[in-house]
Amino acid sequence: MSAASAEEGADRGKDRPPGLHGSTGEQPSRRVLEEEIAILREENSKLKEKLRTAEARNLSVHANANSSRSGSFDAGVNRTSHDSEGPSFGILSRLEIPYDSLDIREQVGGGGFSVVYRALWMGTPVVVKKWFDPSMGEEAMQDFRAEMMTLSELRHPHIVLLLGACTRPPDLCLVLEYVPHTLHYILHKSNIVLDRKRIISLAIDLTKAMLYLHAQRPPLIHRDLKPANLLVDRQWRVKLCDFGLASTHPIKKGAGTPAYMARELLAGKPYNERVDVYSFGIVLWEMMAREVPFDGLDYADICKKVVEEKKRPPIPLSCSRAIANLIRDCWHDDPAERPTFNQIAVRLRELQYEGQSM
Ligand SMILES: Nc1ncnc2c1ncn2[C@@H]1O[C@H](COP(=O)(O)OP(=O)(O)OP(=O)(O)O)[C@@H](O)[C@H]1O
Ligand SMILES: [Mg+2]
Repeated sequence: MSAASAEEGADRGKDRPPGLHGSTGEQPSRRVLEEEIAILREENSKLKEKLRTAEARNLSVHANANSSRSGSFDAGVNRTSHDSEGPSFGILSRLEIPYDSLDIREQVGGGGFSVVYRALWMGTPVVVKKWFDPSMGEEAMQDFRAEMMTLSELRHPHIVLLLGACTRPPDLCLVLEYVPHTLHYILHKSNIVLDRKRIISLAIDLTKAMLYLHAQRPPLIHRDLKPANLLVDRQWRVKLCDFGLASTHPIKKGAGTPAYMARELLAGKPYNERVDVYSFGIVLWEMMAREVPFDGLDYADICKKVVEEKKRPPIPLSCSRAIANLIRDCWHDDPAERPTFNQIAVRLRELQYEGQSM
């Protein structure tokens, strides 16, 4: 109990009629009982008031959490009394995982700012995405916070689940459910056969995740859809991961992966959520062709091809007309001409239905 609340308690005790705590053994008079009831009522209304204040604080914290998606995260604003012990992100205290409860095993991936490890968390297989140098500056810290905040708000069967986070420097990490494969591994590093039915089913899963992201208000743009960010579990369910570039704010800086980036992104022009539809088109092509798009070309080469020459990877002859048309529509040069994920879902369902009746 804090000093203030201890004093508050002592004050209340002074005015309190004897018998409220039931320690005198005497039978309380009607007047005493009425006074007790009045005091209880007063306490009750004080408690209600406290609850209202706490709820209001919670709401404003939530609003700040949303603003972090736009890159305007302010560490100070998100602090709660929980943070007084040290630097942390107290609003997510319910997600806090002690770093020493993680038994970190081998590395499974990694990018510019983080390394991804397989780990055990109290015996449960998980993945730990650890920011490897917390002293690298505010930009990287903001990236960590933004990804954590974004993931903490997403709940969908086709989006990787954030189990918790270690938010106390130097051990900044996200703890995620472990999903054994990536689509990149399946397509390019394994001999696993992917038939048309399987490809459509994977594409439908991804469409569901994207429908959910784009249904957020404002829409959440993933901006880095590619097979390495599509996890696949043992039941062949897709789980979208890597929300490092996800943003509701289209002008947020930072590129994705050139081969999957729409013309407007490559050219640094204004863009909207249809950039994800473009990437989806490339991913669908990649599943059909089982090749890496624009393999061996660097950023400048891809820009020249996609932006200036409006070139796209060659669609394999094995592709049915319906799938080829879907791919072409998705990677259309004009974002407004690209279908929405709703429309894509309908077309994929039709393909699935046709496949069943074949
Ligand atoms: N939940 C998970 N389960 C299994 N593997 C995962 C998981 N999350 C990430 N990985 C692996 O780690 C890799 C990198 O993860 P992620 O894309 O989130 O990190 P990143 O730092 O953004 O990397 P990159 O810059 O390569 O995209 C993934 O491509 C995948 O191979
Ligand atoms: Mg990634």
